[in-house]
Formats: sequence, C-alpha cells, structure tokens
Amino acid sequence: MSMARSAAVLVLGAVLVLTSPAAGDVGVDAMPRGGRKMMGAIGEARGVVVRYFAKGANVKAAAAAAPPPRPAPAPAGSPDQFRGQPRLPRFAAPRRYDLRLRPDLVACTFNGTVAIAVAVSAPSRFLVLNAADLSVDRGSIRFRDVAPKNVVIFADDEILVLEFAKELPLGEGVLNMKFNGTLNDQMRGFYRSLIVSFERVLFLSFIYLVPFDCSKYQYKGKMKNMAVTQFEPVDARRCFPCWDEPAFKAKFKISLEVPSELIALSNMPVANESVAGPIKSVLYEESPLMSTYLVAVVVGLFDYVEGVTPEGTKIRVYTQVGKSNQGKFALDVGLKSLALYKDYFGTPYPLPKLDMVAIPDFAAGAMENYGLVTFREVALVFDEQSSSESSKQNVAITVAHELAHQWFGNLVTMEWWTHLWLNEGFATWMSHLAVDSFFPQWNIWTQFLGDTTAGLRLDSLEESHPIEVEIHHASEIDEIFDAISYDKGASVIRMLQNYLGAERFQKALAAYIRKYAYSNAKTEDLWAVLEEKTGEPVKNLMTTWTKQQGYPVINANLKGDYLELEQAQFLLDGSSGPGMWIVPITSGCSSYDTQKKYLLKSKSDKLAIKDIASQCGTRDKGGNFWIKLNINQTGFYRVKYDDELAAALQNALQAKKLSLMDKIGIVEDAHALSMACKQTLTSLLRLLYAYLEETDYSVLSHINTVSLSVARISFDATPGLVGDIKQVMIKLLLQPAQKLGWDPKDGESHLDAMLRPVLLDSLVRLGHEKTINEGVRRFRIFLNDRNTSLLPPNIRKAAYLAVMQNVTSLNRSGYDDLLKVYRKSAESEEKARVLGVLCSCKDKNIVLESLNFLFSSEVRYQDAYYLLQGIPVETREIAWVWLKKNWDLISKIAGDTQVGGLIRYVVTLFTSNEKAAEFSSFFATRKRPAFERTLKQSLETVRINARWIQGIRSEPRLAQTVRELLQRP
Ligand code: BES
Ligand code: ZN
Repeated sequence: MSMARSAAVLVLGAVLVLTSPAAGDVGVDAMPRGGRKMMGAIGEARGVVVRYFAKGANVKAAAAAAPPPRPAPAPAGSPDQFRGQPRLPRFAAPRRYDLRLRPDLVACTFNGTVAIAVAVSAPSRFLVLNAADLSVDRGSIRFRDVAPKNVVIFADDEILVLEFAKELPLGEGVLNMKFNGTLNDQMRGFYRSLIVSFERVLFLSFIYLVPFDCSKYQYKGKMKNMAVTQFEPVDARRCFPCWDEPAFKAKFKISLEVPSELIALSNMPVANESVAGPIKSVLYEESPLMSTYLVAVVVGLFDYVEGVTPEGTKIRVYTQVGKSNQGKFALDVGLKSLALYKDYFGTPYPLPKLDMVAIPDFAAGAMENYGLVTFREVALVFDEQSSSESSKQNVAITVAHELAHQWFGNLVTMEWWTHLWLNEGFATWMSHLAVDSFFPQWNIWTQFLGDTTAGLRLDSLEESHPIEVEIHHASEIDEIFDAISYDKGASVIRMLQNYLGAERFQKALAAYIRKYAYSNAKTEDLWAVLEEKTGEPVKNLMTTWTKQQGYPVINANLKGDYLELEQAQFLLDGSSGPGMWIVPITSGCSSYDTQKKYLLKSKSDKLAIKDIASQCGTRDKGGNFWIKLNINQTGFYRVKYDDELAAALQNALQAKKLSLMDKIGIVEDAHALSMACKQTLTSLLRLLYAYLEETDYSVLSHINTVSLSVARISFDATPGLVGDIKQVMIKLLLQPAQKLGWDPKDGESHLDAMLRPVLLDSLVRLGHEKTINEGVRRFRIFLNDRNTSLLPPNIRKAAYLAVMQNVTSLNRSGYDDLLKVYRKSAESEEKARVLGVLCSCKDKNIVLESLNFLFSSEVRYQDAYYLLQGIPVETREIAWVWLKKNWDLISKIAGDTQVGGLIRYVVTLFTSNEKAAEFSSFFATRKRPAFERTLKQSLETVRINARWIQGIRSEPRLAQTVRELLQRP
C-alpha cells in the first residue's frame, strides 16, 4: 500500500472515509467473518427431512424486536444520510451487470471488473450500492465516464456511497469499477473449497515429500482447490459491488478467467470460450432478470452425468472425479421434477440448462442458484452400495426442493426478506408434493408431519416470531432460515391447500407464477391472487397465521349433545398467550366417511354433535364412538380433549380405527401438553403403550422421539424410576425391531429399511444389552471386512453407537477403530456418520477428546456440528465446561452464524433454573447479536424443562403406572 493511499484512509469509528481521488484500492472490512449455517443430522432418519443450517435459530417477533440503533440524522446532501437504513435507496436501480471474475486458486484471491447499467429515476448526486470484504479500486470508479468526487464505505451497513460533483442525469448510464478480494474459507461469498480432504493432503505431502502449505494445494501439478460462490442471503456483495437486494432484479452477463484444465460453470450456458495457454476465458450467455443472491460460479474438477428434458433442456449432475455414477439418482429426480413443475405451474423451466454440483465444503444443504444448483455432497450423491436409504430420500427431497425454487423464488422472487417464507415454505411444501408423486410408496406426506412437529415446537416458545418478520438489518436475515419459515410456512400452506381444495389451489398458484414471473411479490400479492381465483376470504384467514406468532390449542369438551370448542394460544411454559386465529377445523366422528369442515372465527363455539356426523347423533358411549379433530393433522394447531373424548380416542387407536397421521397427531399433542404440564406424564405413558403393536415407520419415528424425550426428562425428574421407564420404552420399540431384525429382507419396503435404524439406534441408546452386543459383534466383522453384508450403511450407525456404549478411557479400542473408519473413508456420508457418534459415550474423557477433535484439521468446518450431536445427558457437564473453557476459540471457529447453534446444542441438555441462571451470567459479558436470540430460546427451553420436572415429581401415580405397564404381557 502506498503512503499516499494509506494517508487517504481515515478510520472514523466503523466508517472508512476516502477523500483523495488518487488511484489504488481500499480495503473494505477485511476481517473475515465467521462460518455459516449450522448443520443438522446426516441423512439419518429423524422421521423427516434433514436440514443443515441453524434452522432452530430463533428470531424474536419483528414487531416486538427493537430496531437497531439508528445514527443521528445526517445533514441532507451528505453520504451519512444513507447510514443505518435497512434497505438501499431506490432512486437508482441496476438493469444489467457485465461481470468479469478472475479467481487465483493458488494464491486464493480473485479480482474482477463490473460494468453496471444503472437507471437513475430521481435527481441525486449519489449512487448507493452494497460491497463488503472487498477492495474496491476507487481510482477505477466511473459513472458515465465521470469519477466520483468522494467514495465512502460504511462497513457496518456494507454499503458503498459514491458522491458525484453534479446531479446525475436521469435515465440509464454505466457504472464501472475494479475490485479484488480473497477466496475465503468461510463458505460464503466467493470461497475456496478443497477437492481433496485435509488429511489426504497431509498424507500425500508426507508420502511425496511435498511441503504442506495451506494456501497452495497442488499435487502432481493438479489443482486441489476449487472456487465456489454462496450468495444467499446477502453475500453477493462479498464478490462484487452490487445492489444486493432481491427486488433489484437485473440481467447478468458473466465471464471468467480460469486455469484451462478446470471446469467453469455459471448460471447460463457458455456463449464463447477461448484458451490462451494455461488460462481460458469463458463468456456465458446473458441471464434473464434475476436477483443477485441467485448468481453463481463454480470452478473445479468434476465428472458429470447428463440428461435432456423433452423440451431440450440439458441437465447435468457434477460429482467428484470418478464418481459420476453416484449422480444418476439425482439426475433422475431432477428430470422428473422439471416435468412436474412445468405442468403444475403451467410455465416451462425458464433457463436453457440446469447444472447440479456437489461441493466438498458447503455451509447449507443445498442452494438454488438459478440454473446452477449447488449441494453439499451428501445431499446430492447416492450410491446403492454405500448410501443409506434415508440418504436416498434426502437427495430426492433436496433436489425437488431446490428445483421448486427455480419457479418459486427464482422466477418469482420475494420482494424483501420479510417474505422469505414464500421461498422456503413453498419449496418445502412443493418438494413433498413432487416426491409424493415420484415415490408414492414413501408416504412422504405422513413423514411431513415431522416438519409440522418442528414448526409447532419452535412456535410454542415466547421467543418465536411471526412467519412474516420485519428485517431491520442484513445481519438479521440469516436467523430466519428456521423452522418458522420452513416448517410452519409449509404447514400453513398445506392447511390452506386442504381448505381450498387441491385443484383450485394449483390453478391459483399457476396464475400467481405467471403474473409475477421475472418480478417480485409479497405475501399479500399471493393472497390477492388466491382470493381472486377462489372467491374465498384467503387474506383474512391467512393473515392470522403469517403475521402473528404462535398457534392455538383447541380445547374440546363434550357437554350433552354439544361439542364445545375453545381456542387459546399454546405455549410450552404453561401460560396462554393472547393470540386468536381463524382456525380451519376439521372433524371426524366414529369413522372417516363423513368429515366436517368449518372455520372457527371466535374464541369459542359450540357444535351440535349430530351435525358433525350422523353416526354421532346416536352415540353409544364406550362402544365405537370417537371424535377426532384436525383430521390428518392438516391444521397448524393442537387439540386438548376432555377425559371422555381422550379415552374414546385411545380406544379407537387400539382398535386400529385411526389413520397414520391422526395417530401421530394424538401422540405429538399429548407430548406437548405434558411438557406444558397440561396433562400428566402418567397419562402420556399410558397413551404411548397404546401404540404397542404399531408397525409404521412414521408413527414409530414419532413414538421414538417422544419416548427418548420422556427417558431424558425422567433422568432428572425421577432418577429412581428412569431405569424402569427405559424398560417400558424398550418394550415399545423391541417388538417392531425384532420383527425387522438387523438384516434387510429381500424386496422389503423403503419405509421398513428406514425404520430399522430408527429402532436399533434407540434400543442402543436406551441401553438394551442384546442390541448392543449384536451391534458390537457386527462391527468387529465389519472391521475385518468392509464389504461384509452384515453391516450395510442403513444399520451402521446403530453398530457404531453400540461400540461407543462400551468405550471408556481404559478400554478405548472401539473408539480408535471408529477413528480409523473415519480416516480411511472417502465418503462424506460415512465421515458424518462417525462424527455423529463420537460424543455418544458416558466416559467424560472420551467425550472431551471427541469435542476437541473439532479443532483438528481433520474435520471440515461444514461437518463440525455432527460432532455435537447426541451428547448423552450423563456427560453434559463436561460439554458445558469445554464450551466455557474454549469459548474464545469456539466462537471464532464457529463464526457468527454457527455459534448460536453450538450454544443451543449444549445449553438445552440441561433442565434446571439454576443452570439457566449460570448460562445467563456466563453469556452476560459475552453477548453478541449473532446468538442473542438463540440463547434466549435455549434458556427458555431449559426453564420449560425445569417446570416440567416439577410437574412430574408431583404425579402420585407415576411409579405405580410404570410398574403396571412393565408387568403387562
Ligand atoms: N435457499 C436455501 C439455502 C440457504 C439456506 C441459503 C440458508 C442461505 C441460508 C435452500 O433452498 C434450502 O432451503 N436448503 C435446505 C435443503 C432443503 C431440502 C430443506 C438446506 O440447506 O438444508
Ligand atoms: Zn430452500
């Protein structure tokens, strides 16, 4: 940096002011920011879809959240007037970007130029756009060939303000600039990803005596780095200066200069390519109107498989070199998805090609970049031999989800992040619709209740937020990719579709897509089209669900010949909030033949039983009589039945009269009501026992999670009884587990293959000796023969967990064997599986060693979170001590977005108010906006559990009931 230039950089608080027009570049916020979204479970079945980022991270209701402090009003005419604004001013808007990027994969830097055709629509001397972590060469900046008189960068706001001497002429002009930056390792913006793993590089450098240098991954002259972009939500500005908001749609003409031997992809097909020795220059066709967060570039070494749609659209799936066969399943789902969505939306896929690429280091699960969808490897590749059945389902759902975005999100884009749920809720819902049509035998809508459960769970906290959430600052956007936007979003769409009818709903959605194609829409725009096309009061109904946080519990009481219904907001802390909803009530009485639908619009209502169904009029109590509300759980609410109705339902359940979805709804509502102390644990246990003969995958997945939750809470609530309670749970799960056995049966169903690991994993966790011994036995055989048929991928985790049950500091051979499996495996799925069990051990030293493994170069950033899963309650204290002790390091490694998730994993293992207070005081001096809300949500969960424990301790008949259930044949 020259003296003249460094003198020109005046640091004023967080603001860099550049006063000299001298040539050179200026560092913008060079501090690397932390890692990205947090990852969840590897494709192991949890009853549902797997998501990889901080979905649970919670945001306070926007309306109630305090806006970030605004700077004092700036004098008009000064660049300061643009500080502290949630959105860019709208007097200038980009129409077209000519973007040229030159990544250097050895030095891990890039430079670029951009020419933006900007339309100025109101008089101003300023252009205001986004830039962050970039060095913009301010000497290169010209608008209509005029240099700005002043260039100011507000790092906090991630904006670049160009001040010109004279007012800008109205109409279109071109803004030119040059910039450069770092190909970072944070999986955001323009970043580098390692084609080979760290340990492989270390190993190779050892074998071939090549010095190991972190920034120069060359092996035998081949490039080991790749350059990738991840821009959603607000990181395009980390790659090039731009109007980085979804409503500023523009056309993109991208070109790249890259090493000749590498594959270089972008959103559009290649228009022209010229090779000059080691460097090639690739120019892509101009894109249609699109938002910046969907722009993408991938440069690396790949193999691919290819297909073509009947319309001639080429689809490719790019995988690691040598593994293109593993892309075939995703390709097939991709082709089917494009066909289905084309019909569903009545609009063809808008681009000439579609690429789907597996990226070795990837923060989320997948990203829907227009025409160039990127995935973490486990969410795209599937191999009959080495992948599990749940991975297969996860690939299908993920591909269908990202391709749904090509219409819902990419063609029609949310106007602002407040409407993010229009993207994520709809893509989640659509992916189930698509997968249900491709794989009807998967019963995916029944599995969808796992998503609904996640939405209901988060939304029963005070610290939840409405679906439509106000965004005051870019830093708040990451947090809303959570169970509210995805799961509550998708669930209320299902509720609405069910209310309007599938066909009417589809027609109206297709009209909406056509109306807003290549443009942006808000939630109310969708309601308006739906209202117009169906004549139903969609806006009034849906606003109660999208603008208000929480959901109701319907109290159902039988009084004479009437069913009394009353709604109240359901909260897990036992209180009842002020919310009121328009609730689409459905009900069935004694059969599914005649169902009743109506809208509950007031606090309470009374229905004549004879009106619900004719059979109910002559009800014969104790016989076949039952009433179920929220048929098939299409509504986003819970139901609390009075004793008589609850008993009737339990009878119907045992008599196998109820649908799979209703069986799930009943146990989930009972579980939540028990946590809120509205129902006893004793009655929940009796209800669980009514599922003794259940065989369905989805139902048993829910029974399983509820059982594990009960076992976990009884560890603290009734330590003397926990052993017996676990035995009851084992009794429940053992019967279906024995039926399935360890070995897959010829031609067995997808769902049975998915159910087996759910049951075996839990039996191991619950301490079932025989299952543990069998797991260990199979693991031993597997160690000697990795291809043994005794340990296929579906059941491998159960065996690994079994091995971990016996591991202690003095007897650690099983642990070392697992580490060997980790180190030798080249499969991401296998690595994630091992990481996911390493903390599942009751020995404190081993858990500590596993936690510290996170700091080693052997674990990719993207995989760090697998490790923190499954810490048993017995070793939670060591995890907390570890977190405290290594806080500075952990918070640095995890970065802004992952750190909240990490805290949540550890904090929610605890169940006492004292502990909640301890966490509070520890974090009091370490507060950061990045995790403040997640922390609050986690503390709320701890206190809810503390209250639940008090409730359980006062139950007089618990011990007796447990013994009675154990003795039953
Ligand atoms: N748009 C998201 C990816 C994303 C998430 C970008 C968070 C930025 C922040 C993508 O469509 C998505 O939802 N991916 C899911 C997978 C899906 C199957 C639910 C994911 O990453 O887990
Ligand atoms: Zn999505």
